Amino acid sequence: MASALPTSFPAEVVPQAPEDPLFGLMAAYRADTSPNKVDLGIGAYRDDNAKPWVLPVVKKADEIIRNDPEANHEYLPIAGLAALTSKAAELVLGASSPALAEKRVASFQAISGTGALHLGALFLAKFYKIAGANRTVYFSSPTWANHHQIFTNVGLPIASYPYFDKATRGLDFEGMKAALRDAPEGSIVLLHACAHNPTGVDPSPEQWAELAALLKEKRHFPFFDTAYQGFASGDLDRDAGAIRLFVEAGFELIVAQSFAKNFGLYGERAGCFHYVAAPSPDAAETKTRVASQLAILQRSEISNPPIYGAKVASIILNDPALFAEWQDNLRTMSGRIIDMRKQLRGKLEELGTPGTWNHITNQIGMFSFTGLTEPQVLKLREDYHIYMTKNGRISMAGLNSRNVEYVAKAVDKVVRETQ
Ligand SMILES: Cc1ncc(COP(=O)(O)O)c(C=O)c1O
Repeated sequence: MASALPTSFPAEVVPQAPEDPLFGLMAAYRADTSPNKVDLGIGAYRDDNAKPWVLPVVKKADEIIRNDPEANHEYLPIAGLAALTSKAAELVLGASSPALAEKRVASFQAISGTGALHLGALFLAKFYKIAGANRTVYFSSPTWANHHQIFTNVGLPIASYPYFDKATRGLDFEGMKAALRDAPEGSIVLLHACAHNPTGVDPSPEQWAELAALLKEKRHFPFFDTAYQGFASGDLDRDAGAIRLFVEAGFELIVAQSFAKNFGLYGERAGCFHYVAAPSPDAAETKTRVASQLAILQRSEISNPPIYGAKVASIILNDPALFAEWQDNLRTMSGRIIDMRKQLRGKLEELGTPGTWNHITNQIGMFSFTGLTEPQVLKLREDYHIYMTKNGRISMAGLNSRNVEYVAKAVDKVVRETQ
């Protein structure tokens, strides 16, 4: 045998990376044989039987695709399925948005929300160079962990602004504003449009208006991540309120839109990227130039986006009856989650668990930041087979009518034991 050359990737150059903590948690949950085990780490919707839920409206769209004699597996255009991207833009911006009427929105189908974030990050890394602008991307502290990697991977510097107030388990609005005021002019600010992950804490409409004024004054660049539209409150328009407010305020901005949660299309990787030019006589021309460069980036990254999830979402968004049914399905998911919030809080209060629990119902969306400490989280795992991330974040979708009481009692015991 010929002698092998040494690897080009020795450990000092390519060290063993740590396992993604969330996937490690999932593996530990799967390996647990207790019949009482509860998965509160999961970032996907579960029904009251703790099972994944294929939305009934998605089943109908799937049926339509399967029975379409014209369906094929051809490539989509580089920008994706036009019937999807145009409706996706209407969904997030509002059908009557002046930005759409004035043709200043460039929309690209993306590999779900993550892919849309990446396309935006790549575009900014390459082109956000105007004199006086600061290329640092500011994230909320904490934020969805992947944000750090997505923006760091394209070479953009990152920083954070305070967001979560540990004392109130609500928004640290003053801290957030102070940091954004102190950030160099023209910084990029990543904002969760609704149902903030991991805290479940959103600014109020009045606070969003203040933030818009502040960002405008500082000429910051807003980058919205919207992964929970309709899933948070059950109302698509309400959950898009912050983005629409910023568009109305005349910002140039980017939106990364995921259809993973609101259509339950997690693994199909359906989503869209939108660039909105600020209103000006040149806006449509700016949009066209930006879109031409986005097309090159998209081509080199993925060539063309995947077709199945895009077709499902597009069929639903383009058919009024299916759209209405989708809204109904969204209300089912958000309603169950809101109900679980009420039940968990109610049971903890009934038990007289030390501390306050109103934050459970004040927070919104898939996740709640419980305020449980790391030792408490580990004790819940070891003694009660209840799995959540070490920061005390729980996925409300993991709770159901059969386990919520068990979870409340376990939390009660652990909180008392570790006081
Ligand atoms: C805040 C946030 N952004 C983006 C995403 C993107 O998810 P996906 O790439 O599956 O659409 C998620 C998913 O958990 C999220 O929580």
